[in-house]
Amino acid sequence: MNTVNKDMLVTGGDEMINIRIAEYRKKYKMTQVELAQQLGISFQSISKWETGVAYPDIVMLTKLSDFFNVSLDEFVGRMKKNSGDAGKDNPTFWGKKLDYLQETRKDLWNDDYFEFLVMKVWNFVEPIDIVDYGCGYGYLGLKLLPLLPEGSTYTGIDSSLELIEEARNIFNNSSFETNFIKCDIYEFEPESVYDVAICQAIIRHSNYPEKILEKMVGSTKTGGKVICIEIDRLTEEIGYFNSMMDYEPFVHLRVYEKLWKNETKNMGRDYSVGIKIPSMLNKLGLVNIEARVNDKVLISNEKNGINSLMETREWNKKELESSVSKVKIRLVENDVDSDDVDAYISWYKENVKTLENITHTDMVTFFRGLIISYGDKT
Ligand SMILES: C[S@@+](CC[C@H](N)C(=O)[O-])C[C@H]1O[C@@H](n2cnc3c(N)ncnc32)[C@H](O)[C@@H]1O
Repeated sequence: MNTVNKDMLVTGGDEMINIRIAEYRKKYKMTQVELAQQLGISFQSISKWETGVAYPDIVMLTKLSDFFNVSLDEFVGRMKKNSGDAGKDNPTFWGKKLDYLQETRKDLWNDDYFEFLVMKVWNFVEPIDIVDYGCGYGYLGLKLLPLLPEGSTYTGIDSSLELIEEARNIFNNSSFETNFIKCDIYEFEPESVYDVAICQAIIRHSNYPEKILEKMVGSTKTGGKVICIEIDRLTEEIGYFNSMMDYEPFVHLRVYEKLWKNETKNMGRDYSVGIKIPSMLNKLGLVNIEARVNDKVLISNEKNGINSLMETREWNKKELESSVSKVKIRLVENDVDSDDVDAYISWYKENVKTLENITHTDMVTFFRGLIISYGDKT
């Protein structure tokens, strides 16, 4: 059994606070008694804070964050809730997103390319044990297990109970050996090590990208592989063309520059993490690091791929006016210049309307440029 230790999650106003005492204590391999001795308090206090029975006061919070040598913001996992994408590092967000995940995964990979990676590039010819960080409803398991030698196992970890239950249902009647664990990645302490630690579309949403990679490396056997499939938002943004409109990506880049830089500064969520992962794996001591790119280019027309494209880009055609207002608030909150806000909003509306009325003579090209980075643990 994997043990899950819940740090406190406190919400108030527009902030979410996740006091990370247990996480840091374990990182430094300390018991509650040892930490209590260092701080001159009783171990019962630590126990109460870690289980959410009581909260440390501000003086003690400062002492704790100093002790673990992290900023107070980081120690309490402070993140703004009100700027659009911030909630994506939040356990409840994805639980409501099963439809979104299923729709967007339909057109994410060319099956032949995925098979090429598994069979030719990674060359998984012996049975292996895989752990998938932020597995969602088990999409990667569905793609991997049919390609792997018999006897391979797939363990999925996700903080969303809804998605974990869906994954369990999906695999319930299959012959594959699977295990789904509802757990926060930052707190996951595997009892065994795996041949492969993999993740897809999770690090971009994380406020602590390095921590996820550390966990992945920590749960991989010597000689095993760490594989991250991750977006680079700049590449994704440039890779979009709609034949019903002028090709004008620059206005979005100016707008997104503000949003993304704010997100990274305020939360740690990194818009360009996809392109940085090889270097991050290198810093973590992996060897034989390589990177590839998912070769899927979605060509959408009236019959094909439009829904998955619109879901992926979060272009809401059903409630256009209310989604426009939300986008606008988000841009203004993030100090985007008003001319750029106007230009972006008119582009957004026209774009969604054209896609809604797409005919057989129109076409959209969408290249997401998902980067697949991998390396071996020594
Ligand atoms: C964009 S989805 C990707 C899901 C899956 N990898 C896929 O490609 O279909 C991100 C997933 O990460 C999970 N997640 C986000 N933060 C997490 C955390 N701190 N611990 C565990 N899971 C987390 C979410 O619940 C969600 O299922």
